[in-house]
Amino acid sequence: MKIAVAGTGYVGLVAGVSFAEMGHQVTCVDIDEKKVKKMKSGISPIYEEGLQELMQKNYSEGRVDYTTDYRSAYKDADAVFVGVGTPEQPDGSADLTYIAEVARQVAESVETDCLVVIKSTVPVGTNDKLEQFILDNLAHDVHIEVASNPEFLSQGTAVHDTFHGKRVVIGTESQWAEQRLLEIYEPFKLPMVSVNRRSAEMIKYAANDFLALKISYMNDIANLCEHVGADIQDVAEGMSYDDRIGSKFLNAGIGYGGSCFPKDTKALDYLAEQNGYELKTVKAAIDVNKNQKTSLYRKASERLVTFSGMKVAVLGLTFKPGTDDFREAPSLDNIPLLLSKGANIYAFDPVGAESFAKSYPEGPNDRGSITYVQDVRDALKDAEVCFIFTEWGEVKEIRPEEYLELMRTPIVFDGRNIYSLEEVDNTDVEYHSIGRRTIERSTKGRVSQQS
Ligand code: UDX
Repeated sequence: MKIAVAGTGYVGLVAGVSFAEMGHQVTCVDIDEKKVKKMKSGISPIYEEGLQELMQKNYSEGRVDYTTDYRSAYKDADAVFVGVGTPEQPDGSADLTYIAEVARQVAESVETDCLVVIKSTVPVGTNDKLEQFILDNLAHDVHIEVASNPEFLSQGTAVHDTFHGKRVVIGTESQWAEQRLLEIYEPFKLPMVSVNRRSAEMIKYAANDFLALKISYMNDIANLCEHVGADIQDVAEGMSYDDRIGSKFLNAGIGYGGSCFPKDTKALDYLAEQNGYELKTVKAAIDVNKNQKTSLYRKASERLVTFSGMKVAVLGLTFKPGTDDFREAPSLDNIPLLLSKGANIYAFDPVGAESFAKSYPEGPNDRGSITYVQDVRDALKDAEVCFIFTEWGEVKEIRPEEYLELMRTPIVFDGRNIYSLEEVDNTDVEYHSIGRRTIERSTKGRVSQQS
């Protein structure tokens, strides 16, 4: 099939290249000339395992191309997949400006029957409106329909997820649209879930918000564990044997971030409100997560007399390992707080430091300063306190005794529970984590209870 893809972010680019790999003829469209040039030369604009290799292979074999010329890409496409952003607006609603712009361009350009497939996450009902909008603006007498095909890939494993997804959800309003999508996805050999358009739109929000709820629930329980002397990791393990609960997404930590959970929880809450319904569970997840992101900062503020002039090691800036994306990452909540209190931050991130430095340039900032280091041990050297925000492999490789060797005062606040308490207990490191007892330095062998 001849496929055009609008938008070359995580969703669009991975989809486009994957369709090419499956034998379709694909043109990826982006408004950014520089980005298109880069992609044509075989460089991926995003860090995603396996993507660049796949781009190079399919480009050299002539199945994928990149362009800013949307007219030529859309005019004879059998399907146009749309993967442009739907960013969050200040009131929590999704901004549909980019998607509407693509819809207008499609309406002006298509000269043959075409299925427009919305991969971007959009509020329930948007695709009905988009279809009408395209029909209102259609320049040629062709058959055009809009389908929903939400994306469930995770950043960092996007390519793998696309080929090994648990299911592909398609939302259509006609057999013609359903058949066209089934045909496009046939080579992937994945389970297909075919529903109506509104249900497909809802599945995406319901699935993401459920996962966000699951994490917030574990974070809430973790905080309670600290009060009552239970251990969240033991609790999670005990829960995980029940396959109604499952073993995934039970890791308590410093809160969820990224481009999906924060945005999609707020968007669904907004949608409910607009429809006169109060979505209490999702509201609670949003609330718990907001609080969770600064929970370690608050613990540290209670423990330390000041951050002013202190060397503070920050390990990890991105919202999770395997990506250079720091959207809604806990680092974004904590770094400004630390800077405002005069901390001299030494930050390590193996992939995300460069892009983070665009928002927080190296040097003095507020009452403190920020320095980026290439080696995780340079961040720790002579530091007086350490925060772990992302569980990168390079961070997990640090053995607990190294904090003692390298830091001036080995006080660690671990937002990802990367060490077992037993291994830290054997060192003289003070260790604060999430939902577990605190290991005090001064009371080695006699561990105190977190209050
Ligand atoms: C998520 C969904 O997993 C994916 O299906 C959807 O399409 C997009 O949103 P992603 O944002 O890439 O994917 O990351 P994910 O791995 O789900 O993690 C999201 C956040 O939750 C991260 O900040 C991560 O650290 C946090 N998390 C995840 C936890 O705190 N605990 C867990 O147990 C799992």
